[in-house]
Amino acid sequence: MNDKIKIVIDGKEYWTELGKTILDAAKDNGIFIPSLCHVEGVKAAGSCRICNVKVNGRNMTACSTPVAEGMTIVNNIPELEELRKAIVEVMFVAGNHFCPACEKSGNCELQALGYRFLMLVPRFPYEFPDKGVNAESKYIYHDRNRCILCKRCVRTVIKDGKHVFALNSRGGEHIHIKIDTELASQLTEEEAQAAMDICPVGAILKKERGYYDPIGERKYDKQPIGSEIENK
Ligand code: FES
Repeated sequence: MNDKIKIVIDGKEYWTELGKTILDAAKDNGIFIPSLCHVEGVKAAGSCRICNVKVNGRNMTACSTPVAEGMTIVNNIPELEELRKAIVEVMFVAGNHFCPACEKSGNCELQALGYRFLMLVPRFPYEFPDKGVNAESKYIYHDRNRCILCKRCVRTVIKDGKHVFALNSRGGEHIHIKIDTELASQLTEEEAQAAMDICPVGAILKKERGYYDPIGERKYDKQPIGSEIENK
């Protein structure tokens, strides 16, 4: 039997279970906390920081912080909304996110969060990175210039027990995700599609057929991000 506990989010009490993270407990109770690097069922990376909430006055990542009996969490306040919006804006200017021309438009979580946070003009200068693309593998087109370093691909795209994507080890400004093209070429079309789907932006695209669903009829064209949790 699971251990039921009570937590408080934005002043209201909710039931949840020990062992859950704040992110999952909130989701179970119809509360949306934005996330980008999180993948359900996979160990948290805690790298994007967009899921920051306040626990006892301190900023904590909701995806990696387990709930505890009586925990008091603050989620929906202007300070956190502003922080999350700033994180999204920084990601936008740090990468080449040309939404109108991107195959991921409408299915892109970063774009959807930009809409949610009413992002308009950039406050930070565009970086227009030139980190290169890799189109050598059979089904995958990998554009590092759009990568937000969430490491979802590193943690989940595995072929025959080996990781197709890895974080390069040089660090600093050269940090990027590299693809094992030989291994990536062994992915089936379905596996390549799954790799594209796990990427929250347009850094991993499946080659060959594009724009299968017309712009305007894609996931976040139909409903804003978070509404699937808030309206359930
Ligand atoms: Fe929690 Fe990225 S979703 S740090």
